[in-house]
Amino acid sequence: MSRVTLSRYLIEQTRSHNTPADLRFLIEVVARACKAISHQVSKGALGGVLGSMETENVQGEVQKKLDVLSNEILLEANEWGGHLAGMASEEMDKAYQIPGRYPKGAYLLVFDPLDGSSNIDVNVSVGTIFSVLRCPNRNGQSGDLGEEAFLQPGTEQVAAGYAIYGPQTMLILTLGNGVKGFTLDRELGSFVLTHDNMRVPETTQEFAINMSNQRHWEPPVKRYVEELLAGKTGPLGKDYNMRWVAAMVADVHRILTRGGLFMYPRDSREPEKPGKLRLMYEANPMSFIIEQAGGASTNGLQRILDIQPTSLHQRVAVFLGSKQEVERVTAYHQE
Ligand code: F6P
Repeated sequence: MSRVTLSRYLIEQTRSHNTPADLRFLIEVVARACKAISHQVSKGALGGVLGSMETENVQGEVQKKLDVLSNEILLEANEWGGHLAGMASEEMDKAYQIPGRYPKGAYLLVFDPLDGSSNIDVNVSVGTIFSVLRCPNRNGQSGDLGEEAFLQPGTEQVAAGYAIYGPQTMLILTLGNGVKGFTLDRELGSFVLTHDNMRVPETTQEFAINMSNQRHWEPPVKRYVEELLAGKTGPLGKDYNMRWVAAMVADVHRILTRGGLFMYPRDSREPEKPGKLRLMYEANPMSFIIEQAGGASTNGLQRILDIQPTSLHQRVAVFLGSKQEVERVTAYHQE
């Protein structure tokens, strides 16, 4: 049987699910940009791309050279095609305006150009996360696109995905009807469908959390992790294993492949911030993917996709993965 490339998959989606041509084009452009990022990431020290800039992003994090480069690759790839009304990125304070010389389109693209970038210098997996929203009707309003156009709950996403730059480069995509995994064939330069129907098993014996923050967690998280660590002799009655890559893309990819629970809870280090991860370009796209694969995702109290964002770079606590464990830790919060 012939191989199904990303292009063919998208064309078939247009036939079977009426995926609009401009959304198809958008996904293809993002995928092309991810190939370019993958190429840069793989050069490492040979490409002079390792190390940090002297700048900080809007989150106050030191920018890596590859953060900045990946952001530029995504902006340049997407600004001219006429499919977007605007973009927003982890690396930019404000919404990115499509230059006046190009036509504007119906969609908004939100992304984390290089997630887990502290892993770059040690040659461990990193990735790109993206979310696609429809641009609300601006009622004939011209001028710059404001932040408010982007502030839509995750349920409004029309597509989401991530690329993982690991031993293989893969693109994981949902258009709202299941989750597909494509592997980059470097000789052909195409993403090829290799994981047709990705599903997160309902139960698991694996969890992911940064344990070094334990003393800062809230009581329900402390209780839950204590129970996990108690293993067979504890109330959960089974032994659990722990993994933490410190790149959300890599941890979520493992969970999508073999199950597990990912947690980044809010904690008392910076009480004014509800967690570390960002809602719009980390938690929302990953939650959409995980739900589409049969898993669940909450902030401990409510479904992440139902949260009404109030700012572009808003943070959120995240518990996502195998349904049974997400429900358990969420119930502990609600008690
Ligand atoms: O974007 C933030 C991020 O790099 C995630 O990809 C990752 O899950 C998390 O931070 C790692 O956090 P920590 O450095 O606390 O382990």
